[in-house]
This record gives sequence, structure tokens and C-alpha cells, in this order.
Amino acid sequence: MPGRVVPGSAIVEPVVDIHLDPAWIDRALRADVAEGLTSQPKELPPKWFYDDRGSELFDQITRLPGYYPTRREREILEREVDVIAERSGADTVVELGSGTSEKTRIVLDALAATGRLRRYVPFDNSEATLRNAAAELAEAYEGLAVHGVVGDFEHHLGHIPDGGCRLMMLLGGTIGNFPPAPRKDFLASVAATMVPGDTFLLGFDLVKDHDRLIAAYDDPEGVTAAFNRNVLSVINHRLDADFALDQFEHEARFDPDEEWIEMWLRSRCAQQVTIRGLGMTVDFAQNERMRTEISAKFRPENIGPELAGVGLAMERLWTDARGDYALTLSRMVEGR
Ligand code: SAH
Ligand code: AVI
Repeated sequence: MPGRVVPGSAIVEPVVDIHLDPAWIDRALRADVAEGLTSQPKELPPKWFYDDRGSELFDQITRLPGYYPTRREREILEREVDVIAERSGADTVVELGSGTSEKTRIVLDALAATGRLRRYVPFDNSEATLRNAAAELAEAYEGLAVHGVVGDFEHHLGHIPDGGCRLMMLLGGTIGNFPPAPRKDFLASVAATMVPGDTFLLGFDLVKDHDRLIAAYDDPEGVTAAFNRNVLSVINHRLDADFALDQFEHEARFDPDEEWIEMWLRSRCAQQVTIRGLGMTVDFAQNERMRTEISAKFRPENIGPELAGVGLAMERLWTDARGDYALTLSRMVEGR
């Protein structure tokens, strides 16, 4: 359903479907916190980083000197975007985890230049960030129908509007934030939303020198630390908890066996936290660690087979000049 045209202009007002109402968020957060804080070790899913402040902190991370993925991905996009536009044949871009939709403009510009661009569908769990991005893009690309979906990757992909020839995108290395089994389920559910002719542009951060990896997740400016602690602030506000943010230390380590970065919050002292909204108290021992994120790093030779495992045929894999990051273009295996 296209939005209303703003009188006197060719700007089409964005339509935004909300599947994460406060009751849904409350239920999901309660379940994740109750389970995660009674697990050993304690763990919280990274999806809860991204309230307004968390999204703003992530945006700051993308500009840090040591956080290379955003710049490397932009380099590949700028170099290959005409091939992407031509091979996709798309008139619609569906972007999962769209955030501020900044790099999206590279793709939208190329599709606009072909004369085919009709619709942009950002999908994210951060409503304010999505609404801002949707409004900015609707204004920047006159005639573009922007249809945002505020939803969760694991529950609401089925609500993505269909129609048109679609280029699906998941940028930023966000695929690395899923552990292996949920990652396979997620990729399979993205593939299930695709119809013949649709393509999938997917970005992977690659295994590299461990010091550079750690530096990307533990900046001297303390922005990643603030991003990491923000999950505690989300729980404080939404579940009436009393986490003292300064009593938790940010830690980033690389697990060489799993080949993923882990972010942890280490309790600086023995402390008890009350989560009134759950009627729950949680004890932390001094130096006890709680895991808040994994960020898997990939090897190029494993990517094609992983995509094939969910019925996606990888047609292209590009890396940046330093070999830090890979961008892939896939389509559904015909006849599946
Ligand atoms: N694509 C952007 C942003 C990446 S950050 C870039 O490349 O820079 C990851 C994005 O995914 C954030 O905008 C976050 O709000 C969103 N996100 C994280 N977990 C999510 C989930 N479970 N469902 C929907 N969106 C999610
Ligand atoms: C969104 N995602 C790909 C980021 C990453 O690099 O795993 C989130 C992030 N965590 C710490 N810094 C950035």
C-alpha cells in the first residue's frame, strides 16, 4: 500500500507497520532476561542493545577509527554497485537491520540511475531509528515508496510486503551476531520470504589479525563500552531494575576456536541486582562475566557452502582491497 503523496511535491509519505508494540517488547524482554540471568554463564541477547540511545551509540561506533567493517563494506558497495544493480534487476530494496540506512543510499542511487527504483522496505527493531531513516529517504528520493516494518528478525519476516523484483540486503556483518544454529534458521527464513528473481546481498566480516579484531570492539574512546552497558540501561527502564552501570566493566575477547568476538560485562564487585518488573533478584560474584554479544568472523571459502545449505546459490563474493570484509550476492536455487 503506497503512502500519501505530500501535496505540492513528489514525496510519498512513508508507511510504517509496527509489529513490536510495547506489550510484545515487554513479553519478549521478560522472557529473555528471566532465562538469560538464570543461565550459567549469564547471557543477554544483543537485540536489546538497540533502543534510541543504543542505535545512536552504534552509529558512533561505525565512525570510530578502529571499527573497520562499515568503511570496508562501503568500499565494496561503491566499487560493485553497478554490477549489483544490474544482476539484481531489482525495483525494490528490502533491508533487514537497516539502522540509519546510510550505506543504503549507494544502492538506491544505482537503482535510481537505471530508472527502475520503486520501493524501499527497511526492517528493524529500533522504531525511532527506522522512522527517521524512512522519512529522510522518502525526502531524498522523490517518488520512492518507503514501507518500513518494525519487527524482530526471528518473528516478523513473514510481514515483509511482497511484490516487485526484490533485492534483499543484510549489511554491516549483522549475520555474525547470530550463533550458528539460529543463524541457519534465520537465513532459511529469509530464503523462505524470497521468490524466484529476488536476490540477497549479504555482508560478512572476515577472520583477521586478532589484535585488529579486539581493537574494533574495545575502543579507547569507550563508545563500545557504553554500547555494551546500554543493555543494562534498557533493562533498568523497561523492567524497573537497578543495575549500576559503572559496576560493570566492558570486555571484548576473540575465541580462536569459534572464530568469533565475544562481548562481556564483568561485575566489578559482588553485588545483587533487583529486577522489580520480574520480581527477581540476581546475584553477581566479583569478576563474574555475563555475555552480551557474539560477532562471528567468517572465512570466504565457507560462505558459499553455508548459503547453499539454506537453498541460496552464491553468484558473487567480493572483498575489499585489504581482504577484511566480504559482500555476497545470492539467489534462490531454482526448483526448490
Ligand atoms: N545495517 C546497518 C546497521 C547494522 S546494526 C549497518 O550496516 O550499519 C544492526 C541493526 O539490526 C540495528 O539497526 C538493530 O536495531 C537491528 N537489529 C538487531 N537485532 C534485531 C532483531 N532481532 N530484529 C530486528 N532488527 C534487529
Ligand atoms: C551490528 N553488528 C554487526 C555489530 C558487530 O560488529 O557485531 C555490533 C557491534 N558490537 C560491538 N560493536 C559493534
